[in-house]
Amino acid sequence: MILLGIDLGTSSVKILAIDERGNIIGDVSKDYPVNYPRDNWAEQNPEDWWINTREGIKELTQKFSIASNSIRAVSFSGQMHGLVALDGNNEVLTPAILWCDQRTYEECEDITNFFGKEKLTQYVGNKALTGFTAPKILWLKKNKRDVFDKIKHILLPKDYIRFKLTGDFATDVSDASGMLLLDVKNRSWSKEMLEFIGIKESVLPVLYESYEVTGKVTEEAKRELGLKGEILVIAGAGDQAAGAIGTGAVEDGIVSVNLGTSGVVFAAHDEFAVDRENRLHAFCHANGKYHSMGVMLSAASCLKWWVEEVNRGMTFDQLLEEAKGSQSSGVVFLPYLFGERTPYSDPDARGCFIGLSINTTRGEMTRAVLEGVAFGLKDSLEILKDINIPIKEIRVIGGGAKSPLWKQILADVFGAIIAEINTTQGGALGAAILAGVGAGVFQSINVACSNIIKVTNHIESNRKNVECYKRIYKLYSKLYHSLYDWFKASAKVKDEVV
Ligand code: XUL
Repeated sequence: MILLGIDLGTSSVKILAIDERGNIIGDVSKDYPVNYPRDNWAEQNPEDWWINTREGIKELTQKFSIASNSIRAVSFSGQMHGLVALDGNNEVLTPAILWCDQRTYEECEDITNFFGKEKLTQYVGNKALTGFTAPKILWLKKNKRDVFDKIKHILLPKDYIRFKLTGDFATDVSDASGMLLLDVKNRSWSKEMLEFIGIKESVLPVLYESYEVTGKVTEEAKRELGLKGEILVIAGAGDQAAGAIGTGAVEDGIVSVNLGTSGVVFAAHDEFAVDRENRLHAFCHANGKYHSMGVMLSAASCLKWWVEEVNRGMTFDQLLEEAKGSQSSGVVFLPYLFGERTPYSDPDARGCFIGLSINTTRGEMTRAVLEGVAFGLKDSLEILKDINIPIKEIRVIGGGAKSPLWKQILADVFGAIIAEINTTQGGALGAAILAGVGAGVFQSINVACSNIIKVTNHIESNRKNVECYKRIYKLYSKLYHSLYDWFKASAKVKDEVV
């Protein structure tokens, strides 16, 4: 019997198959583009997600000889916050506006001014951030009224794939937490927010817990996919909550750090907890409980930019090798290539190198990029400590976790032991586990996680480096504030530059 996890990411969709014991049968990945039609805008075509998911499932079954009637259940891990708007014929009305799109600064201010920070936290558990979904709906209402008026269904990215598979409009509470439309504490839509945005509840998908069955794959979809038999579709989760399941971050005290396109510090806890200033996201977890999360908008994408844009012709391995042979030289990199979310919530923040000299080498600059991302993640860990969320173990996942150097830098910057686990599948595995729990194949999320996910190694921090990084982190923490006026002035002039 096969369980499928579909991880609908920003640059690709990954489909993973596991068996009823949690053994990995195989996975395939298919890429699609992100469009940046303007500075700070990021869009995708939902049809690209579906075409690639469909082709990916077909490729997976062929490549790993998965029998057409052996798939019992499917679930999802999805890039969060994106706005998919459908009309009365269920056609996509406009390109999906993604989680990293920053166009809604004014709408966030409108929401915050209307409710005030305290009421906003009371109603939706979070502050208004440019990436979240509600400000995007408001943006459409203000800037594309004809589109707004035609909206009959609003979906999150992974839920568009569910719709294509089942015809159902459904979502899960972890992903819905990032819409700014959910009363997170009570796991239900916020009447106050819906009223302010001007949408009816019937436009929104039906809410489920991540491990609940939302429907079945239709005969039509099965024909398209070349599959047979009853296939249950389980709610699934936002990519970070699903990633936390795939990392085993399901108990108080286990913190996962995701070095993906974005960088995330994720702490699972049993009770709803919100930091007074809302510096961290307070979201529902996929296990029926809650989590707190800090998100950097550019993490592994900083290294990707450094390698593929600035150092074209060089490979990741060559540059990382140079960095390994270089010392931390006092050069500091600010990783705000797409503005920043935690802790500053500032779309105008920008990346930069500080402290260059005529002797600075490329290796030192590569190292500074890795360190800058680590400092950005430390910002979120410091807030967790500040609000007394226990940190007993830090597990690192995501593309960046493939680099031993980056993991050592994390251990040294955090001054903590980093746990390595036996899988790097993250969200896709989390989704497959949710499929198994929803279909009754696994007893519970916790049992499945402890059977499938094992700690394999601990990376100790180097005491000398810890002390050195403490000093650099102090400088790093001041840089955003020192450059604040420049960020704001530069955001104003950039449209005028010829
Ligand atoms: C979480 C977040 C990212 C995106 C894309 O709040 O914005 O995890 O879901 O990965």
